[in-house]
Amino acid sequence: MKIIVTGGAGFIGSHTVVELIDCGYDPVIIDDFRNSEKFILKQIEGITSKPIKHYEIDCGNVKEMKRVFKEENPDGIIHFAADKAVNESVNNPLKYYENNVSNLINLIKVIEEYDIKSFVFSSSCTVYGEPDSIPVKESTPTKAAFSPYGETKQMGEKILLDYFKNKPTCNLSLLRYFNPIGAHRTGEIGELPIGVPNNLVPFIMQTASGKRNVLTVFGNDYDTPDGYCIRDYIHVVDLAVAHVLTLKHGVEQVHQPLVLNVGTGKGHSVLEVIRTFEEQTGEKVNFQIGERRAGDVPSIYADNALITSVLGWKPKYNLGDALLHAWKWEQRIQQLMN
Ligand code: UD1
Repeated sequence: MKIIVTGGAGFIGSHTVVELIDCGYDPVIIDDFRNSEKFILKQIEGITSKPIKHYEIDCGNVKEMKRVFKEENPDGIIHFAADKAVNESVNNPLKYYENNVSNLINLIKVIEEYDIKSFVFSSSCTVYGEPDSIPVKESTPTKAAFSPYGETKQMGEKILLDYFKNKPTCNLSLLRYFNPIGAHRTGEIGELPIGVPNNLVPFIMQTASGKRNVLTVFGNDYDTPDGYCIRDYIHVVDLAVAHVLTLKHGVEQVHQPLVLNVGTGKGHSVLEVIRTFEEQTGEKVNFQIGERRAGDVPSIYADNALITSVLGWKPKYNLGDALLHAWKWEQRIQQLMN
């Protein structure tokens, strides 16, 4: 069964392509490599021992996208292609509205002529803003977004929910990810941040490997048990498996639009992440305490009961596994880049 994966060479996309192949699907990648590297395709082929079909196309290019859909006639789509750096979205909002919203609308226009059975969209826990209570359920009201990036995820959800109301034969699923981290257990694929990493785990990796001198922790005076911010860190492979199960559900049975949290249900503080990394790897992380970062919520983690009951999904990996796999990948990057 053919599945189009936009952004399939990216961090979550590449792991999802591996899981799709493992489950017998036939993924086709559409990626313009603006935030990813072409050698990742070879890495995926190495893990799966299968050739990967890909198109180097900007998802906003309607003419080219129509050509791909005509040629591939897919049964399902997983749409990852989007920009995701919160700070960058504040400085360059149009880039975000164009790539994450206009290009989504273009994609919908392209698929109109096709019999797509399952459409899975990358959303984010960012849609909850600063929630009134935690853990957050899917029914927890969304709040004003903190950034244009957050706005685009809320808009994307809304556009898709409105559009698919009149498309009963295509099943829509919106996956709200918490904090994806880690790498494939083989250490052959993982996250490839461009420039200085914005996110915690890539920054820890680059500090431990000596690429960065010091990690600045954004505040330790929050109203949390140890004063550090709390997040729900989900292993990227568990997240990838959630995509495959969601896609399968949509292909196999007609359902109302699904909105699902994908998180472990456990919160860990920034300090716990650092200490767990040190325990798992024996490496030290040089860190200092800095100012709070604007827009950071003190604590957020998922209620994941819904995805467990609907899809039978449960995370397999814990925080230590994810950090160990990310570290294996960090070391592999050095070899691949040399
Ligand atoms: C953000 C987005 C989320 C997105 C995720 C991955 C929001 C509110 N959150 O999550 O939607 O899925 O990025 O792209 O839009 N930290 C440090 N020092 C650093 C970096 C981070 O202390 O150098 C701390 C942060 O203050 C935070 C935690 O680490 O408490 C996690 O931060 P980060 O990895 O950037 O992810 P989020 O901001 O939680």
